[in-house]
Amino acid sequence: MKKLECLMIFSTLLLKCAFADVYLHNLRGSNNRWNENGRNRNNANRMFDSQNNARGGYNVGSLYYYVGSKLQLEWTNQHSCYNENNHCDIVLQYMCGPQVRDGTSTSTIPSNPAQCENLDCNEDRRYGMHEDFYHYQNCRLRKRNGGLYTASENVREYASSTRQNQKANRYGYECAEERDYYPNWHPSPWKDIAILTNDVSRCAMYQNESQNVKERYACKVDPAFLYQYSNKNPPDNKYIPITEAECNTFVYEVNGESKLGEWTRYPAHGIAAPNCVESQYSRDNHLGNTVGGQTINYNWTIPDSVNEHCTLRIRYNITTGDYDRDNTTSIHNNRRARDGPGPDLWTQFGLTSDVGLNRGYKLKDNPQVDIFNNEKFKLQLAITTEQYGRTFQDRSHTFAIRPRPPSISSDAQIVNVNVRGKRGNIVQVYPAVEYDFVPNTAVVQKDGYVHYQWTGSDNNPGNNDGQGRASTDRSNVVMIKSAVYTEGSPSTYKTGTYGQLGSSYPSHLTNASLGGLIAEDMKALSILRDHLGGDMDELNDAGTYFDLGPRKVTQSGNYNYMCTRNNNFSNRSQKGKLVVTDAAFANEYIGALGGSVSVPNTGGGTSTEVVAPPGALTQGQLIGLSETTQSDITVVVHAPNSDYVSDFVKLEPEGKISSDSAMLTLKIKLNGDLPSLYVPEVYMSADGTNTWNKLALDEHQSGYVSFRTDSGGHYVVSKSVDAGPMAGLILGVIVGVLLLVGIIVLLKKNRNILASYKNKV
Ligand SMILES: *[C@@H]1O[C@H](CO)[C@@H](O)[C@H](O)[C@H]1NC(C)=O
Ligand SMILES: *[C@@H]1O[C@H](CO)[C@@H](O)[C@H](O)[C@H]1NC(C)=O
Ligand SMILES: *[C@@H]1O[C@H](CO)[C@@H](O)[C@H](O)[C@H]1NC(C)=O
Ligand SMILES: *[C@@H]1O[C@H](CO)[C@@H](O)[C@H](O)[C@H]1NC(C)=O
Ligand SMILES: *[C@@H]1O[C@H](CO)[C@@H](O)[C@H](O)[C@H]1NC(C)=O
Ligand SMILES: *[C@@H]1O[C@H](CO)[C@@H](O)[C@H](O)[C@H]1NC(C)=O
Ligand SMILES: *[C@@H]1O[C@H](CO)[C@@H](O)[C@H](O)[C@H]1NC(C)=O
Repeated sequence: MKKLECLMIFSTLLLKCAFADVYLHNLRGSNNRWNENGRNRNNANRMFDSQNNARGGYNVGSLYYYVGSKLQLEWTNQHSCYNENNHCDIVLQYMCGPQVRDGTSTSTIPSNPAQCENLDCNEDRRYGMHEDFYHYQNCRLRKRNGGLYTASENVREYASSTRQNQKANRYGYECAEERDYYPNWHPSPWKDIAILTNDVSRCAMYQNESQNVKERYACKVDPAFLYQYSNKNPPDNKYIPITEAECNTFVYEVNGESKLGEWTRYPAHGIAAPNCVESQYSRDNHLGNTVGGQTINYNWTIPDSVNEHCTLRIRYNITTGDYDRDNTTSIHNNRRARDGPGPDLWTQFGLTSDVGLNRGYKLKDNPQVDIFNNEKFKLQLAITTEQYGRTFQDRSHTFAIRPRPPSISSDAQIVNVNVRGKRGNIVQVYPAVEYDFVPNTAVVQKDGYVHYQWTGSDNNPGNNDGQGRASTDRSNVVMIKSAVYTEGSPSTYKTGTYGQLGSSYPSHLTNASLGGLIAEDMKALSILRDHLGGDMDELNDAGTYFDLGPRKVTQSGNYNYMCTRNNNFSNRSQKGKLVVTDAAFANEYIGALGGSVSVPNTGGGTSTEVVAPPGALTQGQLIGLSETTQSDITVVVHAPNSDYVSDFVKLEPEGKISSDSAMLTLKIKLNGDLPSLYVPEVYMSADGTNTWNKLALDEHQSGYVSFRTDSGGHYVVSKSVDAGPMAGLILGVIVGVLLLVGIIVLLKKNRNILASYKNKV
């Protein structure tokens, strides 16, 4: 594989063999491909610098998503993350704009306008383009940030040259410095979605510095200047400055006219700061799943940023633990001998700088270290300072963000279900993946919406394994037949499960419609709509793209389905599950910085919510909260006191969640105010069986109770007679009765007195 990569590199005149990497699978990451049927991508420079293996990527693949819908992004990254082996940050971003496009050619967009239609590359739609012409030209003609650590590399003085790309090779219109450094100081068209990191102490900085919320300043020059010098060095090699003072005295010429740089404010994108949370664990030298067997993923809620032309970018940044990444700057550069020693690698071995450097403990290319002082040999380390701290990247094919149809309210849940992977067996497609539904298990609450939509390519390598016409990707969704016999795992067979994942035959459509979809939708999902005939037994006559549109699910249950074409038992599986819950639910990936999850609340008033204060969770995890009325719940038998005044609430995962230093606060919505003389009591059952424990409440207000807990499980609030006032009342009644008796006795006596008096008169 490495050999192939090197061949490819010779053909594009790159310098070093790169192999490693990050591959986006949902959305479909391009890795710079455009509809090409070779196994290796044709052009590593087409759109962006991935530094990935040439075999990665998907040919084509554009879908659309509704504002506020949930999209599970999936990727694999090779050198571990959330793992002590390196510092790892994953930066997820998107960009939209009228000129953002995939193009229709495998060539890189030219940097010389003379090679573009109408001398305007931005509008020459044959070429794919994300960042635009001026973004790139400004980068080329702008000074680089001289404070950066460039190790022993020979970095030029402009921003298109960096430690990882000294020769300023061009990749589409990407700016190398912007690519390699985040947060970046220069204005950028990219909007931040999330930063996933193994050091959340950096989150405050990332969130403060994100261009989502913080403006940028830069030295503005006339675009005509950028155009004029798009293919040359600037006059006298005077690059556009990056400080205010220098900008104010930066004189340049456009068409013979002398102009002055303008220090300009570029407002923030004006959207919320990015989410910042622990990354998911992955190990080294492995493009695979995280703990628990899921592909590494992030659930993106599609922003209210309607646009037909968007792209998503993932950067995967790893830095060695040999030096302090945040405190190593240009003062540690050691390109020339007189430059100094570089970052301190010696103190950690108890050596002085002289001894350490002398023995080879220096950050430079392939150092030879004398481990055992004064031995006859030294050992050579495979270090390239260019890549010692390195960013990989992938970007999606374009996608659209669309407003919800008027029939779907803005708070209704919409879950996207797509297909990832490409045609071929596991070896042929690697480092891409075989077909799968994403999410493999989709969870939607009843009366929410599911949006089935997928795409593929007709241009995979001709000899790649698979069913149907060679080279083509097709998928469908058909309910699987039910189990013939029952074995093992009872949860699979519990009531409300339709179709068995272990089966490879489809079911009668009438019996099991996915979440209550109408028969016509079930047909559309299986024969891909509108095909009255033709070569459809393996879906050959269908197109690569299919969209069912958003569909409301009205029946709860677990629905298992398959793709009839690609599922090939013992060779390939393409099966998925749709879970439609009766319970209203929400979930959120929360870590040490804390966060909260609230259940969607249709009735108004306080929502049921769990709050994790900072420190309550020691690592990132999915915290789920659901709420359901007593009659809907199947696992809960009954709480000890059945006078329930709340719905049943389930906090997941089951078992102990919080650390000992801080607990979670759970707030449960009450169904109306309690009658006077009653108090709320909260009960918890770890597994929803008959063992319920009473917990202490912290607060009872009109509409809700709140209390602390350290564990997931089932919770319910019931009411009981308030002992305090009741005792008072009983006492009061007794006193009252006694008083009454006294009065009656007295009156009787009086009457007698009166009577006797009367008698006397
Ligand atoms: C990658 O990490 C380095 C620290 O090693 C940092 O300087 C740089 O800004 C990061 N780049 C990105 C794109 O995250
Ligand atoms: C981030 O911003 C907040 C609020 O302005 C401030 O309190 C905090 O010190 C900042 N933190 C960092 C690391 O910049
Ligand atoms: C190293 O960098 C971190 C984060 O920027 C900072 O908090 C710390 O004080 C720095 N340490 C030194 C020795 O400069
Ligand atoms: C199932 O997959 C294998 C391996 O790709 C292939 O050899 C076989 O022909 C496939 N079966 C059918 C019925 O297409
Ligand atoms: C399928 O339909 C039959 C007949 O209506 C019914 O008896 C059976 O329970 C159904 N199966 C499932 C899994 O709903
Ligand atoms: C699975 O693939 C093998 C060859 O890899 C083939 O012999 C076998 O028939 C395939 N199974 C099916 C069901 O097609
Ligand atoms: C994303 O959502 C799915 C479905 O709810 C869940 O299984 C998965 O764990 C979530 N991923 C993260 C990182 O929270």
